[in-house]
Amino acid sequence: MAKIVEKRMLTPQTALLRVEAPHIAKRRKYGQFCIVRWNEHAERVPLSIIDVDRGAGTITLVVQVLGHSSRHLAELEEGDEILDVLGPLGQPTHLENFGQAAFVGGGIGVACGYPLGRGLKEAGNHLATIVGFRTKELVIFEDELRAISDDFMIATDDGSYGTHGLVTAILEEYLQSHTLDFVLSVGPIPMMSAVAEVTRPLGIKTMVSLNPIMVDGTGMCGGCRVEVGGETKFACVDGPEFDAHLVNFDLLRQRSSMYRPQEIAKAEE
Ligand code: FES
Repeated sequence: MAKIVEKRMLTPQTALLRVEAPHIAKRRKYGQFCIVRWNEHAERVPLSIIDVDRGAGTITLVVQVLGHSSRHLAELEEGDEILDVLGPLGQPTHLENFGQAAFVGGGIGVACGYPLGRGLKEAGNHLATIVGFRTKELVIFEDELRAISDDFMIATDDGSYGTHGLVTAILEEYLQSHTLDFVLSVGPIPMMSAVAEVTRPLGIKTMVSLNPIMVDGTGMCGGCRVEVGGETKFACVDGPEFDAHLVNFDLLRQRSSMYRPQEIAKAEE
């Protein structure tokens, strides 16, 4: 059992949970995630580990309400216990001083990408951050990202905050006056796919952190299968980060929406 020691709502749909998990806190590296099951009947939910406090033995998770299980997780309160937290899972992010680096994030992917941006900054990179949200109300991790970024740009789809439009338009504009050696993108599949198409012709090394359907998180179930460079990979053990220019985004999109009708039905229960 893992006790929730802090709970904050970052937006009406997004909860931050700080959870006691000393073994994970001790071993976690940037880019890794865990799988959470809040009770014995619950679905297993993969969540990025946003931060750790090794002294306190806690990890920080961010949950966005998307369906039945995430809603229940986000409704838990301080003092409640989560049945199990499995992790740290996945390959750590490869961090080095690339030179001019950018983190491009969207929606809940901004929370997942925040530790990666921090890792890039700690590795000595000049960091440009470009983040986008549907609307001002959904903005998260702005202060944290501003604090670690050399350049910071924000957009909303409806123009209620920052630039009105898409992060890819900002990235294209940024590239007209700056060079980038490395881009890391985390967010919705269409956004990551579009980022890959901006950087591909310029030959900028680009990584994306994928969040496909996951069940066991150990490479056994095949749920998180993705195609990268024509080869089958499992995001839970080979990823979650892959070369954006080699990912088959069409297949990823198809597989990610495979259970959408069941998810909608369950969310309405
Ligand atoms: S989650 Fe089952 S193989 Fe990756």
